[in-house]
Amino acid sequence: MSEQKREQWGSKVGFVLAAAGSAIGLGNIWKFPYVTGENGGAAFVLIYLISVVLLGLPIMIAELVIGRHTEKDPVGAFKAMLGGTGWVIIGYMGVLSGFFILSFYSVIGGWTLGYIVNSITGLTSSLKDVGTAKVAFNEFTHDTVMVVLYHFLFIAACVFIVIRGIKNGIEKWSKVLMPLLFIIIIVLIVRGLSMDGAIDGVAFFLKPDFSKINTDSVLSALGQSFFSLSLGMGAIITYGSYLSREDKILHSAIYIVILDTVIAIMAGLAIFPAVFAMGLNPNSGPGLIYHVIPAVFANMAYGGVFATLFFMLLFIAALTSGISLLEVVVAYITDEKGWSRKKAVLIFGTVIFLLGVPSALSFNVMENITVFVGNNFFDFMDKLTSNFMLPIGGFFIAIALGWKYGLDKTMHELDPDTRIISLKELWAFTIKFVSPILVLLVFIFNFIRQIGD
Ligand code: PHE
Repeated sequence: MSEQKREQWGSKVGFVLAAAGSAIGLGNIWKFPYVTGENGGAAFVLIYLISVVLLGLPIMIAELVIGRHTEKDPVGAFKAMLGGTGWVIIGYMGVLSGFFILSFYSVIGGWTLGYIVNSITGLTSSLKDVGTAKVAFNEFTHDTVMVVLYHFLFIAACVFIVIRGIKNGIEKWSKVLMPLLFIIIIVLIVRGLSMDGAIDGVAFFLKPDFSKINTDSVLSALGQSFFSLSLGMGAIITYGSYLSREDKILHSAIYIVILDTVIAIMAGLAIFPAVFAMGLNPNSGPGLIYHVIPAVFANMAYGGVFATLFFMLLFIAALTSGISLLEVVVAYITDEKGWSRKKAVLIFGTVIFLLGVPSALSFNVMENITVFVGNNFFDFMDKLTSNFMLPIGGFFIAIALGWKYGLDKTMHELDPDTRIISLKELWAFTIKFVSPILVLLVFIFNFIRQIGD
């Protein structure tokens, strides 16, 4: 096996776009606005940004270093670096996180497909205010058969691409469509800002009110930064394993993190002015963008066309993230268990679909069934992965690389001819001390508060 040359990305831009494709997805456009809305707005955004800089960027670099250094899937990577020790559990936890996340991610990806259909048939054009849009969304999510079918179609699309391998599949898709998404969000921002009352939304999103922050929202901000950047579970290790020796890790990581953050902030700027102008509660949960965006478009010239385009692009963004989640699971099974790609994709695609069904039902027949302290199945899976599995994974990735394996063996992976030497050292310091300590502190404070309650 090891004699065989590992598949690599076709070009440097191809890699950056594919990794950005993994990072940019529903996490930026669907999740970031709604968790920001639930956690009181600008102060949450600020903590999120701090977390992106002090945790996201360093861990992104660490994952790329591990991936290229070992040229392995997450489990294989930890075996190669720290074989025979318990550290390989981090790899397994990553594969499991990929599994869990894709199962509910695909449900929301499926909603997006449904909204493409609703836009094309003209249904969304009649949703002129958020009240009607909300009712329509409820009807949509309560159609059990359809949401499960859409969830199935989303997984099927991921399966279709991942079967064909990373270069023909993943890379090609990312190149063309990401820039288009950028443009349509700008259209939404301009439209949102021009509405009466939009300024309240801007203030909510940009003017911090720290009284709205507690340890819970700090943990959510942390989790959101991991989720949005695809960190803590080995997706970026896996993509890094297909990097060629010539690619520059530091530069690439900085581009990816900036792109992802800019898109999230733009999504917030597109959503909140409209939320306030249209009198919606920002605390509306996972349905937030599905309540507000159709209503914004319905009041615009050519709104139907824009809505169709928007949901199509959101679907593509979700797809490029979905395939990276599936790729982690598949890379593990093919690398470690020697299965063929096709068999691995088909079998695990099916299992992930099945695991996603209770998430799809959490918005209808199972909506009142709590699985764990007040959370329905969907919320439970989401919080378990974003707020626990990913940050814990990131913590151990930092410790494994920074302390256990040792940076001296991997520093050469970082841009050899870089002129920004100090960045390299700054990273080494952050990954050893700052990032792990911060994650630990957030968990400790949360724990203390839980006990105090
Ligand atoms: N980052 C993706 C998004 O923002 C989701 C994701 C999480 C993808 C973890 C891969 C790994 O939508």
